[in-house]
Amino acid sequence: MHQDIEEILVSEDELKQKIKQLGEQLSKDYEGLNPLFIGILKGAVPFMSDLVRQIHIPIEIDFMSVSSYGKAASSSGVVRILKDLDTSITGRHVLIVEDIVDTGLTLSYLVKLLEGRSPASVKTIVLLDKKSCRTVDFEPDYQGFVVPNKFAVGYGMDYAERYRNLPYVGVLKKEVYHVS
Ligand code: IMP
Repeated sequence: MHQDIEEILVSEDELKQKIKQLGEQLSKDYEGLNPLFIGILKGAVPFMSDLVRQIHIPIEIDFMSVSSYGKAASSSGVVRILKDLDTSITGRHVLIVEDIVDTGLTLSYLVKLLEGRSPASVKTIVLLDKKSCRTVDFEPDYQGFVVPNKFAVGYGMDYAERYRNLPYVGVLKKEVYHVS
């Protein structure tokens, strides 16, 4: 285990097993629909990459990059689009792939934004769900693990851009969190 990590929340084996199950489920649910999987940069990259390799039907992928406006935005739920989709989603079945849902503001904003582009459907999948932190009414359609209200890093998730490359999801030691 990395020296800055205090506790493992989700191990490599647990991630592998769950993502295989999610891939099987999605392969059934989206059969014949040629869905577009939209990964949210940068945190969802490892999850997206492992998930799509467990899908046994034709799919397409694209990415968006978003950033919140900071403190003001955490109440307004407005997010800034840093990179938009390359493709039109009109008439398409869309699945937003995200690392973690916390307050729910980012995903509920993105769902509304994409629904405004006349897709056939918009659904969401998150690897981790901090259910107890929700400030808006939002439920992901697919979810990997429900996790406690602790700051998670690893497997795409960062603290000050670090730890994204850890192969598991862990909790940072408090001294690292405060000093950095
Ligand atoms: P929400 O809009 O509050 O649901 O926040 C979603 C975004 O906040 C995620 O996409 C992450 O970028 C970030 N985030 C929330 N909780 C964590 C965490 O525990 N670790 C790393 N990033 C987090």
